Amino acid sequence: DETKSWKKLINIAVSGAAGMISNHLLFKLASGEVFGPNQPIALKLLGSERSFQALEGVAMELEDSLFPLLREVSISIDPYDVFQDVDWALLIGAKPRGPGMERASLLDLNGKIFADQGKALNAVASRNVKVLVVGNPCNTNALICLKNAPNIPAKNFHALTRLDENRAKCQLALEAGVFYDKVSNVTIWGNHSTTQVPDFLNARINGLPVKEVINDIKWLEKEFTERVQKRGGVLIQKWGRSSAASTAVSIVDAIRSLVTPTPEGDWFSSGVYTKGNPYGIAEDLVFSMPCRSKGDGDYELVKDVIFDDYLLNRIRKSEAELLAEKKCVAHLTGEGIAVCD
Ligand code: LMR
Repeated sequence: DETKSWKKLINIAVSGAAGMISNHLLFKLASGEVFGPNQPIALKLLGSERSFQALEGVAMELEDSLFPLLREVSISIDPYDVFQDVDWALLIGAKPRGPGMERASLLDLNGKIFADQGKALNAVASRNVKVLVVGNPCNTNALICLKNAPNIPAKNFHALTRLDENRAKCQLALEAGVFYDKVSNVTIWGNHSTTQVPDFLNARINGLPVKEVINDIKWLEKEFTERVQKRGGVLIQKWGRSSAASTAVSIVDAIRSLVTPTPEGDWFSSGVYTKGNPYGIAEDLVFSMPCRSKGDGDYELVKDVIFDDYLLNRIRKSEAELLAEKKCVAHLTGEGIAVCD
């Protein structure tokens, strides 16, 4: 009897559920490709007053798809409803940036949303909820969220930098003329912004250090780095809106990396809380770093990475940017008066 192997139902909240990213993501979640074929799920969709009709449409399409694992779909505009007992909260809803904007200019617009959602999670979510912040500027939004949820371990909050990791893998594979699965150990350090640092010092191609395969250091330091840093912006110029399908894919990757054991010798990037990090990065930030998981939803930071001056300098720049963003949202983290540059 197949039903015997079914796991206990998990509750997954998705904010911005009527948006483009969610429209790709929800059907992947419902199909079982994220949490596995024995894991029944309930989808709890958070929308806004403005998007409520569209949200009803999304729920109808999910219902009409007859996914065997999808046991419940509910919709609401109240985070205290939606986050009740959730095991995962995928926080996508936020105002996206348009052409020519930097992600940090969304701080003001979006920060408050994440303070409110942090409070709601703190009040009603599962005590071990895993929270993945996608709405930009995602690192600082994740910091705001965790500061407003003191009863949930700060370790459980993630900012999505997996899309950047995937972009970096793709570019390295193209340059080396190999399939992307030959590229491993790629870390994105820092902020999901143009200061992010795609690490080609520790990354490997066919198990070899990248520099042994791609000898053109100039290309790595300039073209490669900038291409990854600016990929999101270029995409916005082309589409007139921000990436949606590839973002949804990277959310799937990010979750799967936490619920399946990390392959031997490899790691993945996630924006996580810096307290106690072994790299000397300022504490009390959400910073993308290399992680490994046993597949239990938790992770630990990778210790055996190396640094050179180039990498360290770049990391310092992204750290400085995040420290400045943090000062600018002090009113939302309960740390005083905001100071914005
Ligand atoms: C992306 O990287 O594509 C997203 O974060 C959207 C953006 O603002 O770039």
